[in-house]
Amino acid sequence: MAGSQRSGGNVPEADGKILYEIIVHNKYKKALEVGTSTGHSAIWIAWALSKTGGKLITIEIDEGRHRQALANFKEAGLSEYIDARLADAHRLVNGLPGPFDFVFIDADKDWYTNYAKALIPKLEPGGCITAHNVEEPRPGYRGRYRLSGTDEYYQYMKGLPEFETSIHPQSHAGVAISCKKKEK
Ligand SMILES: C[S@@+](CC[C@H](N)C(=O)[O-])C[C@H]1O[C@@H](n2cnc3c(N)ncnc32)[C@H](O)[C@@H]1O
Repeated sequence: MAGSQRSGGNVPEADGKILYEIIVHNKYKKALEVGTSTGHSAIWIAWALSKTGGKLITIEIDEGRHRQALANFKEAGLSEYIDARLADAHRLVNGLPGPFDFVFIDADKDWYTNYAKALIPKLEPGGCITAHNVEEPRPGYRGRYRLSGTDEYYQYMKGLPEFETSIHPQSHAGVAISCKKKEK
């Protein structure tokens, strides 16, 4: 990964490691990422899936970033674990059959809640939806990561009784984790 081309907005290393550890710890195999950019988070996710025997679908709307991501995946030796789609996730997410056991949302912030609504029925019990740039709301505080859309997303996920939602305390840029409770 060291030589791969980066663009603005790629996950910092601390947050990539969090995604990696969640997947390996839970032995997740069916992953979806919304917002590939040039593929740094996808590389962390795919690296974890190379240990669990899983596969990632990742979606990017920008052709130049998608192409750079493909080159980065090749350079990282992880292409076989990644199905990279050049598409508008607003449309594609609805058409994906699933099921998924791991989702990472890191695209247009004002659509996070819509992505979640489309993906929750496709998420297996015990699976989790993670999302980037989400912070615990603090009254009166305008933090740099409290971007439009992610507050609404966080409140929405917190309000779902079938999910346990929290912000990972070690995340650098607010990794929200929402795990779907297992059926009893
Ligand atoms: C913050 S970057 C993703 C960073 C990437 N996850 C990483 O850590 O390496 C957000 C990306 O989402 C893409 N995006 C925004 N809206 C989208 C949409 N409707 N469908 C697919 N991709 C979208 C942008 O083009 C951008 O590359």
